Amino acid sequence: MERLNIGVIGLGAIGQKHCEALARVERANLVALADISEPVLSKTAEKFGAKAFLDYKELLAMPDLEAVVVATPDEIHTEPCLAAAEAGKHILVEKPIATTIEDAKAIIQAAEKAKIKLMVGFSLRFNLHYMKAKKMVEDGKLGELISIFSRRLNSITQADRINGRCGVLHFLGIHEFDALRWIIGCEPVSIYTEESTSIPKKYPQDNESFSIIHFENGVRACAHIGWNLPLQHLGGRDFKLDIMGSKGSLYLDQMRQGIEIYSESLSKYPSVNSGLYIEDRAFVDCVLDDTPSPATGEDGLAALKMVMGAIESIKTGKPVKLNTK
Ligand SMILES: NC(=O)c1ccc[n+]([C@@H]2O[C@H](COP(=O)([O-])OP(=O)(O)OC[C@H]3O[C@@H](n4cnc5c(N)ncnc54)[C@H](O)[C@@H]3O)[C@@H](O)[C@H]2O)c1
Repeated sequence: MERLNIGVIGLGAIGQKHCEALARVERANLVALADISEPVLSKTAEKFGAKAFLDYKELLAMPDLEAVVVATPDEIHTEPCLAAAEAGKHILVEKPIATTIEDAKAIIQAAEKAKIKLMVGFSLRFNLHYMKAKKMVEDGKLGELISIFSRRLNSITQADRINGRCGVLHFLGIHEFDALRWIIGCEPVSIYTEESTSIPKKYPQDNESFSIIHFENGVRACAHIGWNLPLQHLGGRDFKLDIMGSKGSLYLDQMRQGIEIYSESLSKYPSVNSGLYIEDRAFVDCVLDDTPSPATGEDGLAALKMVMGAIESIKTGKPVKLNTK
């Protein structure tokens, strides 16, 4: 069986999950890891039996390495992606592709020039429930779309972890905006966003908002994005999607997957989804089978433009026209 030699750059919360997922992907060999934190690096390298590099450029110099996952903080995606493209390695970059439009475009151009696959880690595209919702819409099972409401809320502990590096539209909204564009299946033409004024802000960036998005097929979607769930909230996540169509409606609760556990030691909604396994397998497949990336750099740029549009709309109090093509 042909296998892809892959490395992971950035071994924090999500980098660890990519390592676990890649260790399970049949056609992947997790061969190399990079992180600037020595204790994290050596512990993870030992766990996965991979080579360890404090400098990701040395990892990229490995001749038999074919692809990388870039899971560094948002503002440190551009340099490793440009270096990986330069070294001819295929790239799965965590969302957001970059923090500025210019950087996102530079990454896309570098990938095109190097003729490598570029995929953005929009995990909802690989979540079984969202995949089902997309298929129902695509197959016309819900009829003509009438309206969509989506919600993605965390508790303030996530904002504390991010520590003011970005607002919640960058952190969570980008997932929701990409999922809406992907499920509705056409481009957004405008976005109007209002931020809640009823709560004191702990960080200067956006922290709770409603966006109304117009799509070019006439569909309207409303996205509620925030990180103000009470600390007692079970799981600290409230992720929902309601789709109303002329022939049917669909209600998705990403946390309630048909099983809930309440015990003396824990209360949780266990996930029946496979975490990042499907996403990472899709990346490996697109490289080895030379098929289109299932979440392209252009998809990453479009979702970033929607986030930027929402932030501009909050500032101006007006709808912002979008050009995501
Ligand atoms: N898809 C998802 O659902 C999801 C969830 C969480 C985070 N993310 C994204 O993943 C990325 C990482 O987030 P996180 O929560 O894991 O962050 P984190 O802060 O937990 O981890 C980042 C890691 O990168 C390392 N790092 C920093 N600079 C580096 C460099 N120059 N070279 C090598 N390693 C370096 C840090 O030491 C740290 O271990 C972010 O872009 C974030 O938005 C995606």
